[in-house]
Amino acid sequence: MESTKELEESQDIEHEMRKQAKENNRKFITLQREFVVYPEVFYPPEDGHAHFVNSTIYRMATEEIAKKSRQASIEFLEVGCGAGFIGISVALSSEKCQVWATDIVDEAVKNATANAKLHGVESRFHAVKANVFDHEEINGRKFDMIYWNHPWGGYGTTTATKVQPLMRSLLDPGYQGLQSYLSKAKEYLKESGRLIVTFSYFYGSEERFTEIASENGWNIKVVDEKKCVQEMEGKRIEHFTAMVIELIEDVK
Ligand SMILES: C[S@@+](CC[C@H](N)C(=O)[O-])C[C@H]1O[C@@H](n2cnc3c(N)ncnc32)[C@H](O)[C@@H]1O
Repeated sequence: MESTKELEESQDIEHEMRKQAKENNRKFITLQREFVVYPEVFYPPEDGHAHFVNSTIYRMATEEIAKKSRQASIEFLEVGCGAGFIGISVALSSEKCQVWATDIVDEAVKNATANAKLHGVESRFHAVKANVFDHEEINGRKFDMIYWNHPWGGYGTTTATKVQPLMRSLLDPGYQGLQSYLSKAKEYLKESGRLIVTFSYFYGSEERFTEIASENGWNIKVVDEKKCVQEMEGKRIEHFTAMVIELIEDVK
């Protein structure tokens, strides 16, 4: 997508999110569970990407859990948790699992915490307000898996661009969050820990994504991808590919 269109495109998607959330009484079903989604929190548009992404990440996390011995605990971190779909589902999958979650938007942290209570995993799901990893609860911890369903957009904005809470789901100004994620992740990963991100080269910039990954010593491995279709109410239909990407440390 041309960067000049980025803000306009994001406003259309924001409109779709608000409309669909209202039509569905602020409820979203994924991984066979119902979640509440607060007004300023990411509501996945009906383009099929969320179910693909959520089921792929859930499968990867449960495969990691299965590799552990009965006694071992597993630590999972979800950056940008939004309403908490993935982190809460992972916490529910095993009592061995401790989940931490961060979001830069206050309401997302409250929303994820409320959904964790709703599903009875509040003792194993800890959400905090943070810019990527930057919180005392997160600093010093090591995780088996770190995951971010990144906003994808934001390459055409500058780091100084002011972004409203819901738009934070779609725009990462100047890709500053992505830069922090990829530059600091190694500090937070266990030795065999896995670093995952979802991305789209249609809504995001392939050039900037690959550049930031490479500058920080990561090779990109596409774990899975899905072609999706988004209809923008009477405006246009967009075809895009959503990817689940694993960052593999470049050992050269
Ligand atoms: C595409 S939404 C994904 C929400 C949720 N994980 C999901 O899959 O439904 C991206 C999320 O990242 C959060 N976010 C954006 N920039 C962030 C940052 N710098 N640090 C932490 N969270 C951030 C947004 O507020 C939003 O909740």
